[in-house]
Amino acid sequence: MNKNLSLAILLSGNGSNFQAIVDSIDKGQLKAAIKIVISNNKNAFGLKRAKKHNIKNLCIDHKNFADRESYDQRLIEIIEQEKVDFIVLAGFMRILGSNFVRHFPNKIINIHPSLLPKYPGLNTHKKVLENKDKEHGVTVHLVDEGLDSGPIIGFMKINVEDEEKENDLENKIHKIEHYIYPKILSEFQEGKITTAGNKIRIDDVFYKDGKEYFI
Ligand code: GAR
Repeated sequence: MNKNLSLAILLSGNGSNFQAIVDSIDKGQLKAAIKIVISNNKNAFGLKRAKKHNIKNLCIDHKNFADRESYDQRLIEIIEQEKVDFIVLAGFMRILGSNFVRHFPNKIINIHPSLLPKYPGLNTHKKVLENKDKEHGVTVHLVDEGLDSGPIIGFMKINVEDEEKENDLENKIHKIEHYIYPKILSEFQEGKITTAGNKIRIDDVFYKDGKEYFI
């Protein structure tokens, strides 16, 4: 049995992915402890969720910093104190600069609501509908210095049905996000997923474009 993971969660908004991780820990499925939740937005509902679960939480508002580098430096100092295994981005809507990314090599994980490398950035559901895509999905990846880029760990797909609106896609995407994110963290904890340089190994198979997950 591997040791429990210790996690820092970064979020900017609702925090439903953070909640899914908490629920998975509470059910005993994910063997992990969340050491700290940090938001750049004081009104993030995710901070209220953290308070409710008695998880250490704080807002570090980027507006109070002169530039990205000084903001990221503050984040580094706070996260370093917690000695975490992974920094989990759960709807953290800020780009992390190269100093931050280089400080935590292969330790920052992100979830993004598209089948990367398609549609990095915002408004992914809208783009899927505009392009009349028949499939859509979510991707979990290690964070590098680009926008929603970095080695892909895993992804899940959904079908896009005729008549579906952005809201329908968002609901379907959340459902699979709440499955895949705790699942992948659990596989890290069990030692099934390891990283080697720029490559991901899952159950002794090396993945370049990520493993496809199914519910
Ligand atoms: C999620 O859909 C997540 O994939 C997305 O923000 C949402 C946060 O929802 N992240 C990104 O777009 C990162 N580029 P939540 O606050 O309810 O977890």
